[in-house]
Amino acid sequence: MENPTIGITSDLRQALDCAHQHALLHLDSLDQTSVAATADLETLRAQIYKPLAQQRLAPEQVIEELVRDVGGGLLGSAGGRFFGWVIGGVLPAAMAADWLTSAWQQNAAMYACSPAASVVEETVGGWLKEILGLPSAASFALVSGCQMAHVTCLAAARHALLAKRGWDVEAEGLFGAPPIRILSSSERHGSFERAVRMLGFGHARIKLLPVDAQGRLVAEALSAELEKEPTAPTIVLLQAGDINIGAYDSFATLIPIARRHEAWVHVDGAFGLWAAASPRMKHLVAGVEQADSWATDGHKWLNVPFDSGFAFVADSESHRASLAIRAAYLTHATEARDQVEWNPEWSRRSRCFPAYAALRQLGRDGLAEVVERCCRHAHSLVMGIGALPGAEVLWEPTINQGLVRFLNPMSGAVEADHDRWTDEVIAKILTTGEAFFGGTTWHGRRAMRISVCNWRTSESDVARVVEAVARVLK
Ligand SMILES: Cc1ncc(COP(=O)(O)O)c(C=O)c1O
Repeated sequence: MENPTIGITSDLRQALDCAHQHALLHLDSLDQTSVAATADLETLRAQIYKPLAQQRLAPEQVIEELVRDVGGGLLGSAGGRFFGWVIGGVLPAAMAADWLTSAWQQNAAMYACSPAASVVEETVGGWLKEILGLPSAASFALVSGCQMAHVTCLAAARHALLAKRGWDVEAEGLFGAPPIRILSSSERHGSFERAVRMLGFGHARIKLLPVDAQGRLVAEALSAELEKEPTAPTIVLLQAGDINIGAYDSFATLIPIARRHEAWVHVDGAFGLWAAASPRMKHLVAGVEQADSWATDGHKWLNVPFDSGFAFVADSESHRASLAIRAAYLTHATEARDQVEWNPEWSRRSRCFPAYAALRQLGRDGLAEVVERCCRHAHSLVMGIGALPGAEVLWEPTINQGLVRFLNPMSGAVEADHDRWTDEVIAKILTTGEAFFGGTTWHGRRAMRISVCNWRTSESDVARVVEAVARVLK
C-alpha cells in the first residue's frame, strides 16, 4: 500500500497555497458579490453531498472542490454590508493568528499541553479585565461563545449560592437542593435560558420582570420580587446591550438592590460590554464592575474568528470549585494556569491566539475607535433608512443596534399589514445582494434589525446600503 505520508510537505504547501488564494479572493470580492446566499437548499445539497469515496484525494483537490461546492451558500458576513444578528468580522492579525492556531495544533487544556497557549491566555484574560473595567482579581475562561460563557458563570453561581447553604452541588447535583430563583428582564437573550436549562435549574425557574421604555429592568420590580422571598438563593441576570435595541440595565441602581438579598448578579454583555472600551461610551456600563460574573464574546465586537467567548467571575474560588477536575494522567501545573480548571471543555482550540493578535493589532485606541465607528454607522444606517418614504425608525441606536419598520402603502393598511410588509421588504433587500438584515418582533411589531459590529463597515457601505433600500422601497 502506498505510504500516505509521502509528499506530505508538497501536499500541505499546495493545500495551504490554494486556501490562501481562495481566502484572499473571497475577502477581496466581498464588495462585488452578493451578501446574501444565492443558492437554495436543493442546489446546495446537490453541490455538496456526494457519497464518501473509498479512496483518498489530494488535499489541494479537496480544497478546490470545497470552495466550488459551497458556492452560492456563503453569506457575506465577513464584509461590511452584513447587519444580521450580531456578527463581527475578522481583523487581519486575528485571521492570520487563527491560521497559525491550526498549524500549531496546541491543545489549550493545560499548561503542560502548551505552555505558550497557557501564558497567552493568561495575558488575554488580564488585558480584557482592564479594557472591560472588571475587577483585576476576577477569574476568567476563554470559551466558545457567550452561550458557554453563561454556562461557565452560572456554574460558579450555582456553586456559590448552594455552598453557602451547606449544599455540595458538584457532589449531590440539584436533586433535593434548595431551589434557586432566577430573575431577569423580559429582554434576556435565549442563550441565558439555555444555560439555565443545561445546568439543571429548569427555565421555568426564570421569572421575567418588566422593562421601562428604554428596555431597562425596572428597579422597583426587581426589589419587589426579591422581597417576596428575601433570603432565597437567587441569580439576577442583567443586560449590557440587549439583542434588539442594545439596552443597558442600570447597574449602579440594580446591583446594590440585588446585593441586599445576597443575590448573584450575572451580566450578559455579549457585545454591549465592549462599550467599556470606549471613553465616550463607557458611561453605559457604569457600575457593571460590581456584578459577580460577566459573559461576553470575542467573535462580535473584538472581530476575531468564531469560537470566541469570555467568561469572568469575581469569586474565583467558586469558579474553580465548579469546574476544576483532577485526573491521574494529567500533569497539573503548580504555578502556571491550567485552563481546564476554569473551562467547561477539556481538549480545546487555542482560541487565545487570535484574541491576543486582535488586541495587539488594535491597541486600546483602535478598539475604542472600532466600537465608536460601528455605533456611528449603525446610527447613520437607521436614520438614513428610517428617513426613506415608507420607512419608520422604531429605535434610534444608542450603540450599534437599531430598528426600522416598513409601512405597507396599501390604503387602510393595519398593523398586521405593516408587519407582513416589513418581512417582505427585508426579503427583497436580501435578493438584491446589497445588504443583509434580519427581522425581529419588538413590542409586538415586526421590525428590521440593524446591527453593526464589523470593523470593515465603511461610510461608503452605509451610503450604498441606504441607496439599495431606497431602490427596493421604490
Ligand atoms: C445579547 C446576547 N447574548 C448572548 C448571545 C449568544 O452569544 P453566542 O452566539 O456567542 O453564544 C448573543 C448572540 O447574539 C447576544 O446578542
